[in-house]
Parts: sequence; structure tokens; C-alpha cells
Amino acid sequence: RSHVPSRIAVVGTGYVGLGTAGLLAHLGYRVTGIDIDPDKIAQLQRGVVPIHEPGLDLLLASQEDRITWTTDYQAVAEADVIFICVGTPPGPDGTPDLRYVTGAARSIAAYLGDRPQVIVNKSTVPIGTGDFLQRLLEDHAPQFDETRHRVASNPEFLREGTALADSLYPDRIVLGGHPEAVEVLARLYGPLIEQSFTAPQGIGRPDSYSRPAVVRTTLQSAEMIKYAANAFLALKISFANEIAGLCERVGADIQEVTTGIGLDGRIGHRFLQAGLGWGGSCFGKDTQGLISAGREHAYPMPILQAAIDVNYRQRNVVVEKLLRHLKSLKGKRIAVLGMAFKPNTDDLRDAPAHDLIARLHQLGATVLAHDPVAMPRAEREWSHLTYTAAPDPATALRRADAAIIATEWEEYALLNWRDLVGTMRQPLVVDARNMLRETLPAQVEQIGRES
Ligand code: UGA
Repeated sequence: RSHVPSRIAVVGTGYVGLGTAGLLAHLGYRVTGIDIDPDKIAQLQRGVVPIHEPGLDLLLASQEDRITWTTDYQAVAEADVIFICVGTPPGPDGTPDLRYVTGAARSIAAYLGDRPQVIVNKSTVPIGTGDFLQRLLEDHAPQFDETRHRVASNPEFLREGTALADSLYPDRIVLGGHPEAVEVLARLYGPLIEQSFTAPQGIGRPDSYSRPAVVRTTLQSAEMIKYAANAFLALKISFANEIAGLCERVGADIQEVTTGIGLDGRIGHRFLQAGLGWGGSCFGKDTQGLISAGREHAYPMPILQAAIDVNYRQRNVVVEKLLRHLKSLKGKRIAVLGMAFKPNTDDLRDAPAHDLIARLHQLGATVLAHDPVAMPRAEREWSHLTYTAAPDPATALRRADAAIIATEWEEYALLNWRDLVGTMRQPLVVDARNMLRETLPAQVEQIGRES
């Protein structure tokens, strides 16, 4: 029989861990957030949220009575459900590095109690990690009892920037593992499944939303669902980008084409936005992760490899467009608007702007880069790149030979482009995210449509 959970431990305070902690506290549970990084925990204890995620500060502040932040794994002993939300960065050959999962599991093992407890993996982990986790706990937990301690997989499908709405109003909740563990989690998520909670301030329930589907699976299927979902979304984007390249050559318009195909319910219009391709910490890592799982089983994954190749080729398309107009980039001033891998985040991981800035510099250009929120982070994480940080878009564009929109921040759409292009040395704008709607007194190049 499954118990009714009330105390939760969340290990790892990155995007997934913080979101999970905030969500579960909002649903009424007592949550302990654990991280091995004392600086992060000290910040959280002071009410400072170490990442930029809209609405997260407010949600965590509103739940401060229910959440305790600590570096001490002791709280695991009292928890009914323990979530593992640590990073799984890709190793040199694309295989996810499980050192943080292993570390977390060992620390959890030391404190497992004699009560029924479910240890849930929310990190994206190679298929088979659930079993591995079970064995680790068996080997390292003095109190381990397989009828009381169950391992489960509950993958997360949230997007950075809309993490809270994605977790509060998900399409589906995937619960993998032993049926008893799955039942505990189904109870835990009861208020979410029934949508019986009050929406937190600023994160209202979307009009068309009713409630999530609950998908009960084996551990392995749940782990595979996470990878396959990300790989499929990545594939859609690369597909749109591949078609976009041909559109340019035959005089078709990718926006019209994706609208036209997306209306077929079997295809859908989402994640068909052509542009600079995907970035971020997930799509690159997870497509590579699946390929490396295939490799382990001598099973090639040609579709995924092609999606990756198309994605990274896309970063060069922008440079080719510049070269077509400017011939050479030597000594040219190029403004890059947007550094984060997508809007509403300061996350720079695998951001297309990174490769773009590196390439522009390599070709002899002077790069002026701007981002509404990611510049302080870029100063720390991109110190190996050569560019000048521009305090605002106008400064970046002044006397520039070309401007590239690399991230579709809303504030770039609201700029007075008419005036701004007038301040450029040459009015050339490569809108690599197809976001500009007005006709400008400038050369405007977009992706997959005629200029
Ligand atoms: C992605 C998935 O969307 C989430 O469902 C998943 O939970 C998450 O990875 C994860 O595995 O943790 P995220 O990386 O936050 O979320 O970002 P997305 O919003 O999916 O965007 C990924 C990239 O694709 C961005 O660089 C974006 O600019 C690009 N993109 C997206 C396109 O180029 N075209 C599109 O049509 C959509």
C-alpha cells in the first residue's frame, strides 16, 4: 500500500530543483532543498535566487515558510519522497556525466530511513540509470530495504523562461517505476493532476488548459520518453531550418510554409520556427546522449545525427549572409543583438551567439554584443571571446556595418528600427530569428525567405 507523502527533499538547486521545490511547496508540502554548493544555499537562505527565471523569486518568497535550504543531507531521513535534480553535463564524447547523480545517490543512501521512501530521478539520465541508482542505494544505504525504498523516474519537460507555467500546467506527468512508487507520486501530484490548487500570483492557468494526462510506465520507458521528446523537438527545428535553406533558393517563404504544414494536426505548428537553430543545455546534450546510447548498442541513429549537423550548420548561414553583402568582414563593425540561447533567460549554454561571435572575430570583424539580461553572465563565462559589451542596442548599432538579431528578445521587436538603422554605417540587418515585421529603409535578411 502506498503512503501519503508530506515531507519532500529536493537534491540540486538548478532550474529543475528550484522549480520543483517551489511547485511542491505551493501544493502544500514541506520541502527541504539540498545542494552541495554552500554559496548557492547561502544565497537562497538570504532570499536570493541564483538563476534568472520569471516568477521564481516571487514563488519561492511566497513559500519561504515551507522551504528550508541546506547543504546537509540529514533531511533525507525524514523525507517521504526524495527528488534528484542534479546536472548531467555531457562528457567529451557526448555521454552524460553521471558523477553528480552518483554523488547525490551516495549522500542520500547514507541517510535513508526505516520508513517507506521513494527516490525519484528528475535529472535527464541515460536509460538504465534508474536501475543503476537502485543498485547504488542497495550497496550504500545501511537501512536499505527494497520493499520500503523504491526508485522512480519522473522526467521534467519544463522550458527555461516558462519553467513555472510548464510545471504547473503540464501536458502530461510521466511516472516510471514500481507501481507502488508510481502511486505515491500520483498522490503527491494529486493537486496538480486535479488542478485543485490556487494559481500562484502572476502564473495564471491558461484559458484552454484543463488537466495533465498521467502516463505510468517502467523506469526505462520514462527515461526514454524524456530523451525522445527532446530529440523529436530538436528534429522539428532542424527540419524547419533545412526546408528554410531550400525556400531561400527556390523563392518560397518558410513562414508561409510552416504555417501551411503546421495546420495539419499530425504535424502541429510548434517548434517549427526556423532561425539560428537550437541552443541551450538540453537539445544538444540529449540528441548526443541518444546517439551515444545507440553507439553502445552498435545501433546508429542517422536521423538524430542529421538533426545535429543541420543545427550547427545553421550558425554559419548567418555569416554567409553577411559575407554575401559585405564581401569581407575585416575591420567591419558587427552588432550582435542577443547572447542568451533564447529570450527570457540569461542561460548562455550552447548559445548560437557564442559561435557567431567567435566566427565574426576570427574573420576580422569588431563585434559589439548586447543582451538585455545575459551580459553580466557573459562577462564571466565568455571571457575567452573577443567582443565589446554594448550597454544598449543603440550603442551596438551606431556606425555598425551590419546587425544580427541572434535572440528574439521582445525588447528588440519594440526598438525604433527605423531610426536605428539610420545610425548604422551600412543599414544591413540579419534577422536570424525572423522577428522583424515592418519594412525598413535597410537591407533586411531573414532565414528561409527572400530579402
Ligand atoms: C527544452 C524542452 O523544450 C523542454 O521540454 C525540456 O524540458 C528542456 O529542454 C529540458 O530538457 O530540460 P529549453 O532548452 O529550456 O527546453 O528551451 P526551448 O524553449 O525548448 O528552446 C530550445 C532551443 O530551440 C532554443 O535555442 C530556441 O531558440 C530553439 N527553438 C525553439 C527554435 O530554434 N525554433 C523553435 O521553433 C523552437
